[in-house]
Amino acid sequence: MSSADIQKVSILGKESIHCGFHLIPYIVNTVLTALPSSTYVIVTDINIASLHLVAFQTAFKKHTLSSKARFLNYVVPPGETSKSREGKAEIEDYLLLNASTRDTVILALGGGVIGDLVGFVAATFMRGVRFVQIPTTLLAMVDSSVGGKTAIDTPHGKNLIGAFWQPEYIFIDAAFLETLPAREFSNGMAEVVKTAAIWNEDEFSALESRSAELFAAIQTPSKDNSGRMVATRSAAQQLLLSVIVGSISVKAHIVTVDERETGLRNLVNFGHTIGHAIEAVLTPSMLHGECVSVGMILEAEVARSLGVLGQVAVGRLTRCLKAYNLPVSLSDSRIVRLPAARGLGVERLLDIMKIDKKNSGAQKKIVILSRIGATYEQKATVVADSVIAKTLSEAVVVVPGVPSKSPVRMATPGSKSISNRALLLAALGKGTCRLKNLLHSDDTQVMMNALQELKGARFSWEDGGETLVVHGGEGSLSVPPAGKEVYLGNAGTAARFLTTVCTLVQSATPGERTVITGNARMKQRPIGPLVDALRTNGSDIEYKESQGCLPLSVAPAGLKGARIQLAASVSSQYVSSILLCAPYAREPVTLELTGGQVISQPYIDMTIAIMKTFGIDVVREVDQATGAPLDVYHIPAGVYTNPPLYNIESDASSATYPLAVAAITGTTCTIMNIGSSSLQGDARFAKEVLEPMGCKVVQTETETTVTGPPIGQLKALGTVDMEPMTDAFLTASVLAAVATGAPSKGRELADGSRLTTTRIIGIANQRVKECNRIQAMIDQLAKFGVETKELEDGLEVYGKPISELKEGASIHCYDDHRVAMAFSVLASAVRGTIIEEKRCVEKTWPNWWDDLENKIGLGVEGVELPVHVSSTSTSRPVDADVSASVVIIGMRGSGKTFIGQLAASILDWQFLDADAVFEEKHQTGVRDFVHQHGWPTFRDAETVVLQELLAEKPTGHIISLGGGIVETPAARSLLQTYAERGPVVHIKRDIDEIVSYLGEETARPAYGEPILDVFKRRQPWFAECCSYVFVNNTGGLESAEESVAGGTAVPLQSTTHPSSTSLRNETERFFNHVTGSKPNLALTAMDDKRTYFLSLTYPDVKQALSHIEDLTTGVDAIELRVDLLRSYDDHVKLEPYIPSVEYVTDQITSLRRRTTLPIVFTVRTVSQGGRFPDDAEKEAFELFHTALRLAVEYIDVEISWTEGQIKNLAAHKGHSQIIASWHDWSGKMQWDGKGVEAKYRLAASMGDIVKIVGKANDLNDNLALHRFAQRMRLLPDSKPMIGINMGIEGQLSRILNSTLSPVSHPLLPTKAAPGQLSFAQIQSALHLIGQSPSQRFYLFGNPIAHSMSPTLHNTAFEILGLPHTYDLLQTDSVGEEIRAALASPEFGGASVTIPFKLDIIPLLDLLSPEAEAIGAVNTIVPRRGTDGSLMLYGDNTDWLGIMQCIRSAWPNAALKPDTALVIGAGGTSRAAIYALGRLGVNAVYIYNRTRSSVQALVEAFPGVKVEAIDTLGRWPQGGRSPSIVISTVPASATTADLKVKNALYLPSSIFAAGSEGVVVDMAYKPAETPLLVLASKVAKNWKRVRGVEVLLEQGYRQFNLWTGRQCPKRLAALRLGLLIVDHPCFVAGTLLQADRSQST
Ligand SMILES: NC(=O)c1ccc[n+]([C@@H]2O[C@H](COP(=O)([O-])OP(=O)(O)OC[C@H]3O[C@@H](n4cnc5c(N)ncnc54)[C@H](O)[C@@H]3O)[C@@H](O)[C@H]2O)c1
Repeated sequence: MSSADIQKVSILGKESIHCGFHLIPYIVNTVLTALPSSTYVIVTDINIASLHLVAFQTAFKKHTLSSKARFLNYVVPPGETSKSREGKAEIEDYLLLNASTRDTVILALGGGVIGDLVGFVAATFMRGVRFVQIPTTLLAMVDSSVGGKTAIDTPHGKNLIGAFWQPEYIFIDAAFLETLPAREFSNGMAEVVKTAAIWNEDEFSALESRSAELFAAIQTPSKDNSGRMVATRSAAQQLLLSVIVGSISVKAHIVTVDERETGLRNLVNFGHTIGHAIEAVLTPSMLHGECVSVGMILEAEVARSLGVLGQVAVGRLTRCLKAYNLPVSLSDSRIVRLPAARGLGVERLLDIMKIDKKNSGAQKKIVILSRIGATYEQKATVVADSVIAKTLSEAVVVVPGVPSKSPVRMATPGSKSISNRALLLAALGKGTCRLKNLLHSDDTQVMMNALQELKGARFSWEDGGETLVVHGGEGSLSVPPAGKEVYLGNAGTAARFLTTVCTLVQSATPGERTVITGNARMKQRPIGPLVDALRTNGSDIEYKESQGCLPLSVAPAGLKGARIQLAASVSSQYVSSILLCAPYAREPVTLELTGGQVISQPYIDMTIAIMKTFGIDVVREVDQATGAPLDVYHIPAGVYTNPPLYNIESDASSATYPLAVAAITGTTCTIMNIGSSSLQGDARFAKEVLEPMGCKVVQTETETTVTGPPIGQLKALGTVDMEPMTDAFLTASVLAAVATGAPSKGRELADGSRLTTTRIIGIANQRVKECNRIQAMIDQLAKFGVETKELEDGLEVYGKPISELKEGASIHCYDDHRVAMAFSVLASAVRGTIIEEKRCVEKTWPNWWDDLENKIGLGVEGVELPVHVSSTSTSRPVDADVSASVVIIGMRGSGKTFIGQLAASILDWQFLDADAVFEEKHQTGVRDFVHQHGWPTFRDAETVVLQELLAEKPTGHIISLGGGIVETPAARSLLQTYAERGPVVHIKRDIDEIVSYLGEETARPAYGEPILDVFKRRQPWFAECCSYVFVNNTGGLESAEESVAGGTAVPLQSTTHPSSTSLRNETERFFNHVTGSKPNLALTAMDDKRTYFLSLTYPDVKQALSHIEDLTTGVDAIELRVDLLRSYDDHVKLEPYIPSVEYVTDQITSLRRRTTLPIVFTVRTVSQGGRFPDDAEKEAFELFHTALRLAVEYIDVEISWTEGQIKNLAAHKGHSQIIASWHDWSGKMQWDGKGVEAKYRLAASMGDIVKIVGKANDLNDNLALHRFAQRMRLLPDSKPMIGINMGIEGQLSRILNSTLSPVSHPLLPTKAAPGQLSFAQIQSALHLIGQSPSQRFYLFGNPIAHSMSPTLHNTAFEILGLPHTYDLLQTDSVGEEIRAALASPEFGGASVTIPFKLDIIPLLDLLSPEAEAIGAVNTIVPRRGTDGSLMLYGDNTDWLGIMQCIRSAWPNAALKPDTALVIGAGGTSRAAIYALGRLGVNAVYIYNRTRSSVQALVEAFPGVKVEAIDTLGRWPQGGRSPSIVISTVPASATTADLKVKNALYLPSSIFAAGSEGVVVDMAYKPAETPLLVLASKVAKNWKRVRGVEVLLEQGYRQFNLWTGRQCPKRLAALRLGLLIVDHPCFVAGTLLQADRSQST
C-alpha cells in the first residue's frame, strides 16, 4: 500500500519536496520508480534505526523481491561527532567495500547531522551520486534538509568543509515527529517561529494560538497509519503539516531566489547574531534553537530600543516562544543553573559577536524586525555596540537631567483589568470595534483564541499590531469541533470570564459539549462558587477531573437567567463573569451576591461602567429605607453595541512614574487616556499627591497633565492617606525623599514632626506584595542617605535637598517592577543611580526603559554589575521564600551559636543572637533582667523581641533564639506561624553531651531545676514549633563507626580533623537546601546528564560508613531502603517490619556525617517488592515527615497510598522532591498498554519525579519501556522519569534509563533488586552500545615524566568504568603537537602545568572568571555543541585545591581567617592570593625577594588587600600576625637554618607564639620541607598541609570538570601509594578486582 495523500512544495523549479504522514511505503515506491538503481543505501543513526529502520527494510523487501536492486543500510552513532571527516570516510569505505557504483542512490534518514553528513558523502562519492533527504527531526524538516547545504565539522570549526548538493527528493513524513524527544521538537519550533516572525504574520498567528494542538499532534501516536490519507487525518495532524509546509515554503522560496546565500537568505538569521554568541558559551548544554530563541527576544528588544518595533510585537514573540517551552531570557532557570552561564557577560558576548559572518568590518549586524511578519530592511542592519550592550545588560543607569522631550505627551500601557473586559464585550457585541492601547497579556491572548474557537468573534490587527479590530459575534457561539478542548493555559481571568461564556453556547446537535481546560496549575485553581451559581441557575456543567476546578464540560443550552445567586466573598471575577454575560440570558438577570463581605467592589463597578459604554445599563438595588446600595444587580436582556473605537485607559499606577519624572525635574508631562473619569483608584495620584507637593495639575475627563515646580522645590505632604491608591505609594515616597518645602496650608503636622515629613498611611497591604515594599523603600532610600520611619500602616519619609543625596546608589529591586520604576524617578535627579534588575519592569511595562529614553528623553545606559551583586539579586530563579530568614531553636549548649554562625558564613547572611539583641534593647544582661523582673516578665519581653526580629529581619538572617523561648504559648504560636514562611530549625544534640559540654555551668541555678527535667519538658515544644531538625552529633558516633568498620584508611599524615570537615559539609548542605539557596538535588535527564543512585541494602548503614566514598563512586545520590533497616536487636527479622523513627533518624544522621550526596528515602511495601507492611500507612508517613524535617532530598512515595496523605506530604516538602512510584511485580504490565500511561499521569500529578518499575520477560520489554519513556517526555507537563524493568532480562533498561538509575555495588551485602548493575558496569555498557565514546586526556608541561596525574586519572577512569585514557604530552613549547591534541575529535580535556599555564591561553576560546582573575590556566575542558562546534574552555583548579585544603584544616569552621602570608610572587602565588580572597581573608602579606613582582600582584588583585613585607616574621605596623602561611617557592630554596647560605631563611617568628593556623607548602619535594619541619617544631597548634595534598585536590577538581563525576579520591590516592590501609577490605586493588568479577 504505497498510496498516500501528498502535499508538494517546489524548490529551484522542481516539485521535489513531498510532505505527508506515514510515508515509508510511498517513499520506497517513489524512489524505486523515479530513481532506478542497482543499489540503494540508507544511512541513519542508532536512535532512529531502532525506531524506524525495520519499516524501511520491510517496504524495500516487498519491492526488491521482484527486482535485482540491493538494499543496504549503514548506521552511525547519534550526535554531532559523527559529522566529521572520520565519519564521512567510514561511510565511503562502506560504500566502496560493498562495490557501490555511480548509480547508487543514498537515503539520508535522520536529523540535521545525518542530512549534512550523508549529503556531503553523496556530493563527492564517485564525483557525486543521487541522494534523498528523509528528515526525522523538526529542525531537519524545516531547515537543514531544504536548500542543499551539506557539510562536516572539523576541529577548526563547524560546517567548514562541505558542498551545495541538492537532493533529488525531500520526503517530509511528519509521523516521525511522534518519536522525537520533546526538547528536540521545541528546538525545531524555534526555527519555525523565526521564519514566521520575519515573513508571514498569518502563520505566526496560527503558531501563537495553537501550540497546545501542535504538541498534541506529536504526542498522540497515530494508529493504523492514520493521517496517511487526508480522510483519516486528525485536525491536529492537519495543523502540524500545514505549519511545517508553511515554514518549508518560505525557506524554499528564499533558497530559490538566493541559492548561494548572498543577501535575502541572511534574513533567516534573525535571532542568530546574539543567539550564536549565547550558544558559543552554553553549548552543549543548551541546544541551538534554545539559544536562538533567547537571541530572537534580545534582538527584538534591540529593535524596540531603536524605536523600530513596538512592545506588542515583542510580547507576542515572547509568549509564542514560551508556548513551545523555549527559553526567552538569559535568566531562564534552565540557563541560570548552568555553570557556563557565568560566561554570559556583556563584554564576552560582544566579543564573540565580532566574528559573525554577517558583520561588515567591525560593525555588527542584526536582522531588525519591524513588526511581526516583516523586517526593517531586506537584509541584516548595522547596530551600534552600545545598543546591543544596553539590551544585554541586567542593570541600567539613568542619566539625570532635564527630559529632552518635555512637554511629554504619552500613553502608558493599557490597564489589564479594562483590557480583559473590553475585549470580551467587543467580542460579544454587535458591529466592529477597534481596541486601542490594549494590554497584551496571557489573559487577552487566551481569550482571543478561545473566542475564535467558539466562533464567537473574529480578530485582526492594524497599525503593526497596535490596534486590535474586533468583529463582534453578537453573542452567537458554537461548540468547537468534536474532541477539541478549549485550552486556557494558566490565564486566571480568562478562565473565570469564559466559564460563563461557555454556558451561552447553543447547539441543536445532541451530545455535543464544550470543554475548557488549562495547564496543571490552572487545574488546581478554584472555580467552584461560579460553577455552583450557574448550575443552580440550570446550566449543565460537569467537572471532568477534580471537583471545583477546570477542566469543565458545559452543555450548550444557553443561560437561563432570571435570579442568580452567587457567593461573592472569594473573587470579584466571578461576579464580573456573570455580569458580562447576563444580557444574553433567556430572561433578564437579577444577580444577588451572598456570603457577606463582597471583595473588591471597585472591580465590580469597573465592569458595570464598561458595560454601560457598550450599551447595557446595570442597575444596582438600593435599600429603600437607608438608601445604601445592596448587593443585588439587575441586568436587562440585550446585545452589546460596539462603539467604533474604544480607547483602553492607561494603567493608572504606571502613569505615576512619568508624571513623577515631570514633578521632580520641573517639566511637563501629559498622560493620554487617564483623566478625572478614570475607573482606577491610582488616577487620583496627580490631584491628591502631586498637586499638594507643588505641581500644577490639569485634569480633563480623559487626560492628565502635570508640571513640576522648579527643581528642588517640591513640598512635603504632611499626612497623606493612600488607601485608595496603595500601589502608588512607592512613587510618592521617592518624591517625598527630595521634598524639602514646608507642607501646603492645612497639611502641616501638629505633632512636632520635622517640616520635611511626608507621612504616608493606609498602605499596610504593601507589605505582602511582590516584596515587603515598605521595608524595601526604607532600605533602598537609606542608600541615598534618606531617613525614614516605619509605621504600622505606612511610613514617614524625611525630605532632603537633592544635592545632599548620595550619588551612585545601587538599587536592589526585589524583582518588583514598582520598586524599579519608582527608583528610576529618583535616578533622574541623582547621578549614578544603578537599577540592578532592569527586567523586573516586564510585569507591567516591559518597554519602560525604552520609553524613558525615547518618549521622555532621559538617557538610559546599560551597566554590568560586579559578579557578586548580580548573582545574589538577579540570576536566582524566582522563589519568594528563597531568602526567608532562618530561625534556630534548641536547648542551651546544643550548638545554636556555632552552627548558626557557620551557616551564616556559608550563606553570606547575617547572624543574630536574640539574647544579644535583647540585651542591647534593654541595656541590661539577660540574667540581671530576670533577677530584677522575674521570669514571666522576661518571657514576655523575650517574645516581643522575637516578634520584632521576625518582622524586621524577614530575609537574609540566621536568628538564634534563647533555649527557653518555647516556654510560652505566645512565642510558640509565633514560631509556628513563622514556620509556614521560613525555616525554623531545631538544633538537637544528645542530652548527655549537652550536660558534659555545659559542665560546671549546669551546677549553677540558671535553670532553677535539673537540666534533664527542662530537657524533657521542652522537647515536645521544640518539635511542635520547628519545620526542620538539624542533629548536631559531634562525638560518640565516630568511634562507633570505626569499631564497626574494624579499621580505617587515613592519609599518610592526617592533617585534617574529619569531624570538623563533616560538620561544615553537613551545615553547608543542610542550610543551602532548606533555604533554597542551593537545593541539594541531583540533575535529571532534563539537564542532559545521566544520574544514578546507589541502593543501600544494609540493615544498619553504619556498616557502610567507613567505605561510603568507595561505594558511592560516580553516583549522584544514595537510596536509603528504610524497609530493609533493622535495629540491632531485630537484625535477623525477615518478616514485614517497621523501624522506629528514632532508629531511622539515627541512620540518616550517621550517613550525613560521611556524605552530602542527596538521599533518596524509600519505604518499599511488601506488595511492591519491599519489606514494609502494606497496611502501615500512618507509620510510613510519619517516617516520610521525619525525613523531610531532616532535609532529606528525595522521598519515594508509592502512589497506592492515600492521595490526601501524599498531597499533605508534598505541601511540606520545601525544596525536597517527591518521587511518585509504582512497581508492578506481576510481570503482566505492558509498557505499550493503556494502564501504564494512567499510572504515569497519576504519578506525575503527585510527584516531581515519576518512577515506574515493571518486569522484563524478554529484551523487547526494554525497548517497549524505552519507547514509553520517550513518549512521556513529549507530554507538555512531563516529569523526569525513572523507568526500570526488573529481572535479568531487564538489565538493558537499567543501562538506558537516564534519570536516577538505581545501581548496586559489588561490596554491598545484597542487591536491592534482581538485575541491578553497578555504576561501572553501566558505564562500560554505555560505551559498548555507542552512547559514551572514549576520550583522550593529556598533561601538557615540561618536565612531567614523574607526574602523578596519569595514575590518578587513569585509576579514576578505570574505577568508574569510563573508557578514557590520560597521557603525558611533554613538549618544548606550546606548538603543533599540543594544537593537534586539542583539535582531535577524541580530545576530552587536559591538565596544564609549568611552564605552559600562560602560553596556552591564546589557544582557548573562553576562560572561567577564576582563570581570568588568576591569569593562568591549569585545566582545559572542551565543550562541544550539538551542532559540532568546539569551544575550548580554560579553568584553574589550583586555587580550589589550596582553598579546599585550608578549609579542611582550619580549626574553627565558623570563624573566617583574618590575615595570611604568602611567600613568593610567582604564578602559584596568584592562585594562592585568589584562594585567600575567596576564603574571606582581610589582609595578605607577600614576601618576595624582588619587590617589583609583588607590586604586580597588588595591582592584579584589587579586591584583596595585598601588602608587601620586607622581612619574614615582621608584620606591618598595626597588622596582625598571619594565621595562614602559604609558601610557593621551591623547598630547596628555603632553610630554617641561619647558617645555610644562598637560601631564604625562615625564622620561627613566622608563627606567632601560641597561635593556631594552617601552613601550606606548595612544594612537594621533599615531603617534609624546611617550612613544614619548622612548623612541627615551633607551631604545635598549626595544621600542616603538604603540596601533594593540594596537588591531589586540584586533580580531583579537574576530574570533576571533565567528567561531571566525583573523582574516587581514596582509591586513586591508594593507587598512588599516598594512603596507608589497615582494613582487609581495602588492600590496594581488591576493590577493582571485585568490580571486574561482577562484570563478567
Ligand atoms: N544544512 C543546513 O542548512 C543546516 C541548517 C541547520 C542545521 N544544520 C545542522 O543540523 C545539525 C543538527 O540537526 P538536528 O537538530 O536535527 O540534530 P540531530 O541530527 O543530532 O538529531 C537530534 C537527536 O534526535 C534524534 N532523533 C532524530 N530524529 C528522531 C526521531 N524521529 N525520533 C527519535 N529520535 C530522533 C537523533 O538521533 C539525535 O539524537 C547540526 O549539525 C547543524 O549544523 C544544517
